[in-house]
Amino acid sequence: MSLLAFLDRLADAPTVDKVIEPGRRAVQAVLPRPVRDLLHGTWLGHPLHPVMMHVPVGAWMSAGVLDLVPPLRPAGTVLIGAGVAAAVPTALSGAADWSEQDIGVQRLGVLHAAANTVALGLYAGALVARAKGRGTLGLVLSYAGLGMATGSAAIGGHMSYAQSSGVSHATAAAQALTTDWIDLGPLDDLPEGRPALRTGGSDGVAVPLTAVRRGAKVDVFIGRCTHLSGPLHEGTVEQIRGASCLVCPLHGSAFDLDTGEPRRGPAANAQEKLEVRMDAGRVLARVQGRHR
Ligand code: FES
Repeated sequence: MSLLAFLDRLADAPTVDKVIEPGRRAVQAVLPRPVRDLLHGTWLGHPLHPVMMHVPVGAWMSAGVLDLVPPLRPAGTVLIGAGVAAAVPTALSGAADWSEQDIGVQRLGVLHAAANTVALGLYAGALVARAKGRGTLGLVLSYAGLGMATGSAAIGGHMSYAQSSGVSHATAAAQALTTDWIDLGPLDDLPEGRPALRTGGSDGVAVPLTAVRRGAKVDVFIGRCTHLSGPLHEGTVEQIRGASCLVCPLHGSAFDLDTGEPRRGPAANAQEKLEVRMDAGRVLARVQGRHR
């Protein structure tokens, strides 16, 4: 069985389910919503965890190279310390994301977190050993930590690339649309200030769209939430941090109606917004050209 097939099998197995719900609640109790949004990268418009993880992994990888040259080992020790310090906020950002993911991602996330914890422990031990002048033990522990961190990074990569953790779940739907104008029907059929379901598509593929009317203005979005495909037409329109937002019914992500930018997480990616024009009282929308 390949490594990836093994990870897929783990993601399907309920082995660690008992720890997931208490862990999820603990993370959300320790990290209130504004802190989680900071850690998700909602303010950045991009998930923060994959950006942050380069710091510890890069520092530890570089330390591994410096340790190959004995005169450079003190510099390697400095890098190991920098990696240990950076691993803490990196782990917090991962925990914040994990607490609002689907169950398959959360199962592999438990393994990812356990491997990272072991790697961090090995590096902490390496620092202690080096500080006490036990250089050989320090080398063994740090290379063991590098191996563990590398394995854990592979699991994290599988969570992103195979399980779509952190990617925009609206992009594939946007790509299924042509850039032709889509007739969404009469303006007067849209309810005022509430999301409504409309449908676009091409080649027999139906793409849900969510339209929000505010007077004569209509904002149209891909209807599946960028976070985990929540049905945005079942959401609400609310004022969040001074902006009118479309709020997802699943985990409460809020997208600015004017820009599609997230104003509240867990979403970190902007919601795909369509271009809109009126024609004889009918609403027409088309996807932005960047998808073609
Ligand atoms: S699916 Fe999670 S916030 Fe929309």
